[in-house]
Amino acid sequence: MTRKARVGFIGAGGFISANHLLTARDSQWMEIAAIADLNEETLARHASRMPVGYTTTDYRRLLAAPAIDLIIIGTKQDLHARLTIESLDAGKWVLCEKPMAETQEETNAVLAAERRATGKLAIGLNRRFAPAYVQAKALLAQLPRPFLHYYRMMYPQPQKEEPGSFYADKPQILYECCHILDFACYIMEELPVRVFMTGGELTNDCTILEYADGSRFQLLSGSLGTYCLGKEYWEVFSRYAAITVDDFTDMKVRGIPGEFDRLFPPYRGEHAAELRRWGYDFYETYKVKELFPYIPLYRERYNMEIEAVRRPQEVIPFDVRDYHQEDPDLWGYVPDKGWYDSVESFARAFLEGTPPRNANGIDGKNSVDLALALLESRKLGRPVPFPGN
Ligand SMILES: NC(=O)c1ccc[n+]([C@@H]2O[C@H](COP(=O)([O-])OP(=O)(O)OC[C@H]3O[C@@H](n4cnc5c(N)ncnc54)[C@H](O)[C@@H]3O)[C@@H](O)[C@H]2O)c1
Repeated sequence: MTRKARVGFIGAGGFISANHLLTARDSQWMEIAAIADLNEETLARHASRMPVGYTTTDYRRLLAAPAIDLIIIGTKQDLHARLTIESLDAGKWVLCEKPMAETQEETNAVLAAERRATGKLAIGLNRRFAPAYVQAKALLAQLPRPFLHYYRMMYPQPQKEEPGSFYADKPQILYECCHILDFACYIMEELPVRVFMTGGELTNDCTILEYADGSRFQLLSGSLGTYCLGKEYWEVFSRYAAITVDDFTDMKVRGIPGEFDRLFPPYRGEHAAELRRWGYDFYETYKVKELFPYIPLYRERYNMEIEAVRRPQEVIPFDVRDYHQEDPDLWGYVPDKGWYDSVESFARAFLEGTPPRNANGIDGKNSVDLALALLESRKLGRPVPFPGN
């Protein structure tokens, strides 16, 4: 490859700092041409820590710059649709974080911009790139339908519930579970015909997606539970076969001739060797141990306890207290949810002139439409046909 994709970031706060900026910094396919953010301290911090062409508080400079090929939008969700449309209209390839839009009107406007654009649009629905899920999808292709899926996305989110938080009045099914609704579309390769959701006002929902062939995708999502258990869990059943994946890391493949269980390294490979050696027990116990410095904070602010994970075996061949964070850029011990591959493969598609594998505008629309239909179902207290009702 003769050159790298020149990437401009619009919005580089918490998530982008810990993820896509590092991906672009470390990738052989990308260089960080510019970062736009409203926060000058954020800009100064990034400029002091990594090679950045320039920083600015005016994102329009990036859109006007012919030298920038690809824009990554990482502002909060209320700006996604507008900034995506402006970036596409400026001729850029665009990767926007999820969800693509907040309303059907915005969705339609983004789709219209995608249709008239010269660049490609990718939405940050990264579960499609999680290595465990990619492998599970290949296995599922050999199995007969119908499939019965169960997905759990359950984790405390006290900071999002605090007054003044952007998310304080936002339904989780759209703002976060769009990931899982997109995953259902990806893994099933079709849309459901009918959807149902019952639950709380903003979170703690039970969802069922029904498919024409009798398949079902059930999602339990919410902010109950504890940081001491993995956030996401997926299992799928076919006739005489099953696959389960615990927190993107521990995959069981059962009933498929010649197949075997697998382990997937954590994000950025942190303690991958220990995980390979001792399996999910190491992952879980170490992950929770890494939270110990925050115990006083959690206790004081949220009245939340963190308890060490104690496995029941007589012999535990490692002591998690011996292990510490190796990668200084990590903000925590997290699984590989496909963040890295989703960004890097988009940049490669740009450079190689190939179609991106990312969720596009239609996929972005499907996950927004599903979330909106589920909110309607919850309001009506009954299943609703999809699409529309
Ligand atoms: N894919 C995932 O797994 C995942 C996980 C977490 C968050 N996210 C997404 O990341 C995005 C950001 O979330 P966050 O928690 O990092 O938010 P954040 O508030 O920490 O960061 C947003 C940044 O955007 C900047 N900004 C706001 N308006 C701007 C403008 N007009 N021009 C330039 N910069 C502007 C803010 O100054 C801030 O630094 C959200 O869309 C969220 O959905 C994705």
